[in-house]
Amino acid sequence: MEKLEKIYEGKAKILYATDDPDLIIQYFKDEATAFNAQKKGIIRKKGEINNAVSSRLFSYLEDKGVKTHFVEKTGEREMLVKRLDIIPVEVIVRNLAAGSLAKRMGVIEGTALKKTVIEFCYKSDPLGDPFINESIIMAFGFATDGEMKKITAAALEVNGHLSRFFDERGIMLVDFKLEFGRHKGAVLLGDEITPDGCRLWDKETREKLDKDRFRRDLGHVEEAYEEVLRKVMG
Ligand code: TMP
Repeated sequence: MEKLEKIYEGKAKILYATDDPDLIIQYFKDEATAFNAQKKGIIRKKGEINNAVSSRLFSYLEDKGVKTHFVEKTGEREMLVKRLDIIPVEVIVRNLAAGSLAKRMGVIEGTALKKTVIEFCYKSDPLGDPFINESIIMAFGFATDGEMKKITAAALEVNGHLSRFFDERGIMLVDFKLEFGRHKGAVLLGDEITPDGCRLWDKETREKLDKDRFRRDLGHVEEAYEEVLRKVMG
């Protein structure tokens, strides 16, 4: 597989074309941003860690029958993925109230939920990823009713598999963000599954092992990412 020109550079990843028009290379950077890139920094070795964690989780999900864009890990910081027509919607799944939901509802982080929450945001940097709903998604033609049903079912299925996977490794999957896209008529899970886009708490101590350590200046950011990598690979 030949790596060709850069086709897109985002805040945490770069996408490269390959000699196969259906496949692209996803390269993971060490750069970290928060609050719509108002805060910027570097998390040492994040690119390697996120590539390894994401590759492991995508293969695990594929083994469970979830359709993803993942093909294979091709290097320390690179994975080969299917080229997607990305649906501009961030799908957030929550098992406990934390982050923006805890703030919006005026409850402490870690408050139990009677039912899994699914939220949608419009993927738009200039607008700061505003909160939207299925009615808006369909009204703007971002996805059809049928696609939203598939996306919602896939998000809940991923939550079941990953909650169990992390639980077995001493980690609580508090919430996470997914992205989906179209490939040859199918809706596939895309993007990444890493401590950048998940809240991961130590099951015993509730210590945060994710990007909140960077967002909130909690220290030991690299160590937290290393610990997630160790547990995910173990
Ligand atoms: P929130 O509580 O800030 O809305 O975040 C919910 C989840 O989504 C959390 O696991 C972090 C993830 N997330 C992203 O992946 N990208 C983002 O831009 C934001 C704000 C959150």
